[in-house]
Amino acid sequence: MAEFIPVEPFDIVIFGGTGDLSRRKLLPALFHRFLDGQLDHTNKIIGAARTNFDRKAFVKMAKKACFATPDEIPESKWAEFAALLDYIIMDATDKTANWNGLKTRLNQDGRPVIYYMATTPHIYVQTCQGLGKAGLNTPNARLVLEKPIGTDLTSARLINDGVGAVFPENSIFRIDHYLGKETVQNLMVLRFANTLFEPLWSHHYIDHVQITVAENIGVEGRAGYYDRSGAVRDMVQNHLLQLLCLTAMEPPNSLIADEVRTEKIKVLKALKAFAPGTVKSNTVRAQYSAGMDGEIPVRAYLDTLLDTTNADDTKSSRTETFVAIKTEIKNWRWAGVPFYLRTGKRMASRHSEIVIQFKPTPHPLFEGAYSEANRLVIRLQPDEGVKLYMQIKEPGPGGLRIKSLPLNLSYAENFSVRYPDAYERLLMDIVRGNLALFMRRDEVEAAWTWVDNLLANWEDSDQAMETYAAGTQGPVQSAMLMDRDGRTWWESNYK
Ligand code: BG6
Repeated sequence: MAEFIPVEPFDIVIFGGTGDLSRRKLLPALFHRFLDGQLDHTNKIIGAARTNFDRKAFVKMAKKACFATPDEIPESKWAEFAALLDYIIMDATDKTANWNGLKTRLNQDGRPVIYYMATTPHIYVQTCQGLGKAGLNTPNARLVLEKPIGTDLTSARLINDGVGAVFPENSIFRIDHYLGKETVQNLMVLRFANTLFEPLWSHHYIDHVQITVAENIGVEGRAGYYDRSGAVRDMVQNHLLQLLCLTAMEPPNSLIADEVRTEKIKVLKALKAFAPGTVKSNTVRAQYSAGMDGEIPVRAYLDTLLDTTNADDTKSSRTETFVAIKTEIKNWRWAGVPFYLRTGKRMASRHSEIVIQFKPTPHPLFEGAYSEANRLVIRLQPDEGVKLYMQIKEPGPGGLRIKSLPLNLSYAENFSVRYPDAYERLLMDIVRGNLALFMRRDEVEAAWTWVDNLLANWEDSDQAMETYAAGTQGPVQSAMLMDRDGRTWWESNYK
């Protein structure tokens, strides 16, 4: 039976408290931790934003947000949680911002205070400077930076320098919420708590690795942000590269944050850079055109932009909503093993998977009987679990027939617990000061270095922007990327 480990009472200030992230993730996450007894009645949750709200309006907004989740939540507990909520109107970029007003709302008794940047990244530094001037960068303060941290290496460095001038590195928590997902954490356990895999986990036995994060949703009212980012900045720079690191890194000496982070950085630094002559054959970028989401018609990406951005700009947008990348990790363990990454909006289904495709046996003993190679499919979402495809003899007469069937370790069948949202876990780690699931400065910068190189090569090449119909597996060129290597994407049958 899972037990919640208590955390000490804390205060949290959410800059951008009325925004999308606060409503969809942070406030519901805090409410769930409250329901499980990890917050007490002295905790303070302060929304800080420019929105002209008073406390009552903020509480009303928070209630709507917390009850929007499909979980069954006891209404009776709401009043107790609502008592922890407070709100302050603040424009952190304004010289006259009410920092003292913020200070007086805090407990100021030495407990951990979390300053959560759920705003646009270009005001992170100014907000930190404000906190610094008001003397709020105390030793018990923790600064949380949401992704994206910058839009390239240069802007990421500026943010890191700026916030680093106010807060020490060991109090900066750079969030990638994928690291808080149960199944992503299970990746480390699977690799390092089983003797079975590690001896096989290299170019000796692995043919290639596929990492897919497919979404069936579109840009969902974030078109302004998304059109400036695209799939590479929004998903690859952080989530997919983190998954790649956890799949490929060497066993860390311990789970101490810096031991794990150092191993991940080594992977990022070993990623093969692109060159003008290689980017076209190793990457596909595409934008979705009109299609279907089941029975529902979906407009093309360019048409959805008309809703939120300047119509004149939209038809020329060259922002990718899908990307497929073949890369390699240039080190001893992985030499010659392709890693195929793929992510996109408005694809056929929502599923995230890591597929480890093993090599075939060295000698085909069962000649005439078709036999596949072993495959390990780690399903991150939905239907979380692990499937290890084995070859077995199909029973019965009619000659020797071999069938590939999975050993199926389904989370749902084995554990009847509620999986906390990634943010719930990460927020509690922040209170505890545990940095293991957060990115260090150099990790973010190493990821940007590789991504900048990819984007620069796209810019310099005449690589086409392909299209795919909404509701499909992406453009045909993505299948061709694999086909050229005699491989195919593993398509699980999720709906
Ligand atoms: C966010 C991206 O970081 O991750 C979104 O900005 C994306 O565009 C989301 O939809 C996906 O997260 P999840 O947890 O739903 O897989």
